[in-house]
Amino acid sequence: MKFFIDTANLAQIKEACDLGVLDGVTTNPSLMAKEGIKGIKNQHQHYIDICRLVQGDVSAEVIATDYEGMIREGEELAALNEHIVVKIPCIADGIKAIKYFTSKGIRTNCTLVFSAGQALLAAKVGATYVSPFVGRLDDVCNDGIGLVARIVEMYRAYNFKTQVLAASIRHTQHIIQCAEVGADVVTCPLSAIKGLLNHPLTDAGLAKFLADYQKTNG
Ligand code: E4P
Repeated sequence: MKFFIDTANLAQIKEACDLGVLDGVTTNPSLMAKEGIKGIKNQHQHYIDICRLVQGDVSAEVIATDYEGMIREGEELAALNEHIVVKIPCIADGIKAIKYFTSKGIRTNCTLVFSAGQALLAAKVGATYVSPFVGRLDDVCNDGIGLVARIVEMYRAYNFKTQVLAASIRHTQHIIQCAEVGADVVTCPLSAIKGLLNHPLTDAGLAKFLADYQKTNG
């Protein structure tokens, strides 16, 4: 399973990269706004800066919601760097735009996916990634991980090449559950990735080893 980080924060991206586990980055307009990146020129530069940090796929989302606008924005984004993946919402014009980008060899991430039907359409038009939103489904008493599992199963049955990118990950346990159901990629906050390391027995064991070493070696 690939690990992406779900942020536009350069320091966090660098920290995950330095840990040696980072395969890519996902951003969205809310995450860009959180970093205070205003204006197209600055946003494009920020995507380039992210691409310089991580040698992996970087999802950059279109703002347009009409077909022509998505094509225009997506082509501009894809031209910024070879690692850019154009992120497109799962609406009718978005599905048409993904089909266009597939025919042009431009990689896409179909986002805001909340049902198996939406994921099926994304795969039919050749999306590189499909992003089911686990946490937001859990928030409304639905089964986010269950949806990831259904999509994985459906894609396997028909040998779709679209990779299942579990998004809206809220905590460490979500990461483990995504791995258990066979997600291709999980995109998560840095805190959830770092949470994988935590175990009190590791901390206690290390403290004891160091204390015993000190007893013998002063
Ligand atoms: C990433 O591709 C998604 O935009 C992101 O994971 C959404 O996460 P959220 O539900 O925590 O905003």
